Amino acid sequence: MARVGNSIIKGIEVGEVINLLNKAYADEWLAYYQYYIEEKVVKGIMKDAAIAELNQHAADELRHADMVAQRILQLGGTPLLNPKEWFVHTNCGYEEPKNFDVVAILEDAIKGEQCAIKTYSEIVDITRGKDIVTYDIVSQILADEVEHEEDLAALHEDISEFVQDIKAVIR
Ligand SMILES: [Fe+2]
Ligand SMILES: [Fe+2]
Repeated sequence: MARVGNSIIKGIEVGEVINLLNKAYADEWLAYYQYYIEEKVVKGIMKDAAIAELNQHAADELRHADMVAQRILQLGGTPLLNPKEWFVHTNCGYEEPKNFDVVAILEDAIKGEQCAIKTYSEIVDITRGKDIVTYDIVSQILADEVEHEEDLAALHEDISEFVQDIKAVIR
């Protein structure tokens, strides 16, 4: 548990930071699982490119969960212990993939990243100038989420264009 480490936090309650981080922790596990299962069920044209991307993102979200858990512990808190609590505390929720087509899967994933960007940019704003260590960690995660959105959007564009081209040839 942090001692002097917590004394450098100014203008925000440590409990509030722990709360915000536990909500983000719930999001990261749900995002991890979403990528984990999407990578397994995805179908359709160019799915191999999507599988590689989804796999990479799953690994990143799990790494984020770890970064957030470490910070919660450092602050003297406890990361959510029961997966049931993920659904109570999540900001972004969880929606199981309903359409396994690669384009639909990528669209779901992009929505998830957009919610993650919104959530982390709020935590960045709240901790700026108050809790420098948390601020630094959430800023790193935010940069990853921005990259995730960009990678998915680029892939979505490539696959959509490819599908359009094929349709034009077949016509
Ligand atoms: Fe993440
Ligand atoms: Fe992400």
